[in-house]
Amino acid sequence: MADAPRPDPQAEYARDLLARADRVVVLTGAGISAESGVPTFRGADGLWNHHRAEELATPEAFRRDPRLVWEWYGWRRQTVAACAPNAAHRALARFALRRPGVRIITQNVDGLHTRAAHEEARALGLDPAPALPWELHGALFRARCQRCGAKVEDDGPIDASSADRLPHCAGCGGLMRPDIVWFGEPLDGQLLTGALREAASAQVCLVVGTSALVHPAASVPVATVRGGGDLIEIGLEDTPLTELSSVALRGGAASWVPALLE
Ligand code: OAD
Repeated sequence: MADAPRPDPQAEYARDLLARADRVVVLTGAGISAESGVPTFRGADGLWNHHRAEELATPEAFRRDPRLVWEWYGWRRQTVAACAPNAAHRALARFALRRPGVRIITQNVDGLHTRAAHEEARALGLDPAPALPWELHGALFRARCQRCGAKVEDDGPIDASSADRLPHCAGCGGLMRPDIVWFGEPLDGQLLTGALREAASAQVCLVVGTSALVHPAASVPVATVRGGGDLIEIGLEDTPLTELSSVALRGGAASWVPALLE
């Protein structure tokens, strides 16, 4: 768990930037969910340090061994199902619910922003829509038919004990796959274009908990800088975005995000 933030002129500056901005884009990565207990991808305890991405998160891997891939995503579903949104997800949701002009964009597939949006909206008696994230890399609790493309929200357990027990499409009988963007696959073009457009017109992009190594998601904050806006980065360590940032705050998201936004 990371240190609690101390009073900091950099944080004051960041609060001021946020207070003056009409449009704010937020880009989050795995680090925002770390304090909820969801493993990140890189670093000592990261998933890609213990598992080979090319065996689990590529279209080739799924063609070769769909059972193994579903088994892994079933395990990830179980892990995430036992987690809850933390103070960072909740503060971001309240920020987006209360202030117009905020757009949350995430690389995460864990659904925790969505859960926070619904929970905070319910508590405030508001419509959750403004706090629902744009999920650039898909969703862990959604499956997509390989044959007809039908999508199904699905938070059930996965039976990967044999190939014929894997999820199949109720409509056409085709094999379902996790609705997640795998390595080597393009992002949804409309979603990406929309994200880049929002970022380019934002005065501030708040980046939380991403190593900023995976493109095109990591290009979203760059669009804000190119458009003349400011970047505020929250995370445990420097990233390729740090040198573009007006403010870089080092520490855990669950402490820093509420400290900045509330
Ligand atoms: P990474 O695991 O690459 O990076 C997580 C970042 O969060 C690192 O910079 C950590 O230092 C930081 N971090 C860790 N704990 C934190 C905390 N408590 N508070 C704040 N920051 C913390 O995850 P992503 O950047 O999200 O793609 O990875 C990008 C993509 O790579 C993922 O969406 C995934 C992966 O392959 C797909 O699944 C398609």
